[in-house]
Amino acid sequence: MQHAKIYAGARLMLTAVAVAACLSVVAAGAALAAEREPLKPRVPGDRLEELRKQANPVAVTAESIQRGEAVFRGVGSCNVCHGETGDGKGIGASGLDPSPRDLTNAKWQKARSDGELMWVLKHGSPGTAMITVVPGLISEEDGWNVINFVRSLKK
Ligand code: HEC
Repeated sequence: MQHAKIYAGARLMLTAVAVAACLSVVAAGAALAAEREPLKPRVPGDRLEELRKQANPVAVTAESIQRGEAVFRGVGSCNVCHGETGDGKGIGASGLDPSPRDLTNAKWQKARSDGELMWVLKHGSPGTAMITVVPGLISEEDGWNVINFVRSLKK
């Protein structure tokens, strides 16, 4: 008898936790934040000119794009936030403010040089969920491969 009561109590608690989790997912979905001024440069002002001129040392080949995609969906986990198609709506995006970049945005693609993107991979975007990934998580060379893949996402 005593046991049955405890089990019933535990079941009720589990249900309450599950309902609360569902509600918070719904709330986060409803409150999906916007991107923060996507066209505004993310690199320090005194580096901008130099980084705009920095070329990607890895040639845009099918092999490089394929490697970049493998890193994006694999060890880099970029898809978790940026989404499978790069639209910024990954499963980890809800609740992030600012929200992850829509990497398919043609205007954003045009506004950024590869050098600026590498700066973000190396330094993150301070004050956001975009953390440093080069060289801790992925090598610099794979960073350039990922950038070649990101370029292929443009819509
Ligand atoms: C935890 C979530 C998360 C993960 C994982 C993540 N990003 Fe981001 N990323 C963000 C957010 C949030 C922003 C927007 C930052 C801002 O507005 O400054 C962003 C911005 C960017 C930008 C745009 C920078 C710019 O100059 O506008 C690029 C490029 C990028 N991420 C690439 C990547 C790559 C490549 C990976 C995987 C190696 C990755 N991100 C992993 C959350 C994430």
